[in-house]
This record gives sequence, C-alpha cells and structure tokens, in this order.
Amino acid sequence: MKPKVFVSRMIPQKGLDVVLAACDAEVNTPDTHLSQAELIERVHGKEGLLCLLTDEITDDILAAGAQLKVVANVAVGFNNIDVQAAIRRKIIVTNTPGVLDETTADFAWCLLLASARRLVEADRFTRAGQYKGWGITLLCGDDIYGKTLGICGLGRIGRGVAKRAKGFEMRLLYTDAVRAPAQVERQLGAQFVDKETLFRDADFVTIHVPLLPETHHYVSIKELKLMKKTAHLINASRGPVVDEAALVQALRERWIAGAGLDVYEHEPELSPGLVELDNVTLAPHIASASVATRTKMAVMAATNLVEALQGRRPPNLVNPEVLA
Ligand code: DGY
Repeated sequence: MKPKVFVSRMIPQKGLDVVLAACDAEVNTPDTHLSQAELIERVHGKEGLLCLLTDEITDDILAAGAQLKVVANVAVGFNNIDVQAAIRRKIIVTNTPGVLDETTADFAWCLLLASARRLVEADRFTRAGQYKGWGITLLCGDDIYGKTLGICGLGRIGRGVAKRAKGFEMRLLYTDAVRAPAQVERQLGAQFVDKETLFRDADFVTIHVPLLPETHHYVSIKELKLMKKTAHLINASRGPVVDEAALVQALRERWIAGAGLDVYEHEPELSPGLVELDNVTLAPHIASASVATRTKMAVMAATNLVEALQGRRPPNLVNPEVLA
C-alpha cells in the first residue's frame, strides 16, 4: 500500500508526478492557503506532508499528524516549521537548498538595478502618459558601476550576488557570522568587514542572512541611520530580518535613497505607508520564481518526501537528529 500524504498547495506538475508515483496523495487542488485548523484536519492519518513556506507548521499540526514521518518544505528557508518540535516527535524535515541560488541572486540584482535606476517608477510614469519629452533631470537615479556593494551573508546566494558584481567593477564588502575562506574572498574580490563598516560604507546593501532569532530585525533604525543618504537597501531573504516600520520611516524621511524588497515582515501584509512611497520597489516574494527553478524545487521536495517515506535518508535533511 502506498503511504498517504498531503500536498498543501498545487506545485509544478513534475514535482507532483514524483509524489503521485510513490504515494497515495491528497492534494489541496483549489490551491488556497489553508488555516491552522484546516491543516490539522488534512494531516490527520497522513505519513507525509509536502508544504510551502506560507504554511506555518506548528507543533499542533505535527501532533495532529500522529503517523507523520516527514515534512518536505518546498523552500530552502524552513523558518515556517517548528523544527525543534519535529525533532522531539522524530519527524524528518527537509528543504530545497542549492537549486534556487542563482535565480535568487539574479533577482537581488533585478531589485538593485530597479531601485538604483528608478525603473518601476519610470514604468508607472510612462504608462500614465506623463512622458512629454526627454528631460535632463527626468527620473535621475544612482550609478551602480564602480560603486560599493555590501553583502550581508556570504552564503551560496550572497556569493552568487558577489560574482555578478564583477561586471559592474564594484568594490565588494561583506559581513557574516563566520568569515569565508581566504580563497573565496580572493576569488570574489570580497573584503570582510564588521557590520557597522558595511552599512556605513556601502552604496548598496543586500541582505542574504537566514531568519534566526539573532537575525530578527538585523536591519533596524541603527543600521538605517548608518547608511549613506544615497544608499539603497535590498532584501530578498526573509522579511522579519528588516524592521519594516523603521524602513518606512527611513524611506519617507530620506535617510536612504531607496529600497528593493521581495519579502515583508508580516507577509503578505505590508507595513502601513510602504505602498505610498515612490522610492521602494516591491515584489511579491518571487526571487526564486523562474519556471525552471520552481520546477526543480518541487521535484527536489517531492524526492525528499518519497525517499524519507521509503525509509532512506532524504538528500536534504534539515534535522539529522531524528535519524541519529
Ligand atoms: C526559499 O526557498 O526559502 C525562498 O524564499 C523561496 O523563494
């Protein structure tokens, strides 16, 4: 008999095919976001759960799935899952690292370029019929070429962003909890600095740290006040890493020139005042959203799910403690 699993949202067909080939799957085909109560009801009697980062997998949900063996997240970040509770309950948790790094790095650059050159504002202006002819001061933005890029978190995505800076001949600063090997620094041409120096010296600050208790509000009033008035903040990591109310104030009062955001502190809600600002580029958490990458993520998560249910160690295990 195939193991019973629940797939919390529609995923790309190739991923679903992997699940369907090995499991008796119940899929949330209306593709609606499920409440905690609904998730609790749907995991009942299931051995596997394939979920998205928008599903908050609490201890209550894990408890409701008394037969649950594995929770496979279709995301590299797994802050939506109570991993400690999963360890206690001996439930495997998996994620999808690696496959989205380059696509996400591309998108961090989309936000950076759009913010610096006011691209979205320019698009709105043109569509609104406001373009009446070339103007020497029209929609002037900031240069990127030759400027200083500050990367917070030189992990896989941070390194991808760094590689792309070469073409812009940028000075590269980075900060991280752990310094990268000298060879990586040399290859990327990246200089390790403390957080304060990075925020003070960079023309563009891009955030690539994971959401952990110690990175909550990693960017707050202090960091925003350190930044240059001409600087831009880019965030394609996790929303709560930035104190969004402080950022709204910083943008409104022009402590900094602009920001490009893919993620929000109370996603999908936006902090009051954010949408009214012209100097922020807003995207709906799409940094990894290329067709190819989202398909790879779905297949990877599905493979993790099936491997775990078939008694093998899934390739992308987040909590090895459960198999110890
Ligand atoms: C992830 O995988 O954590 C990303 O945020 C999805 O784009």
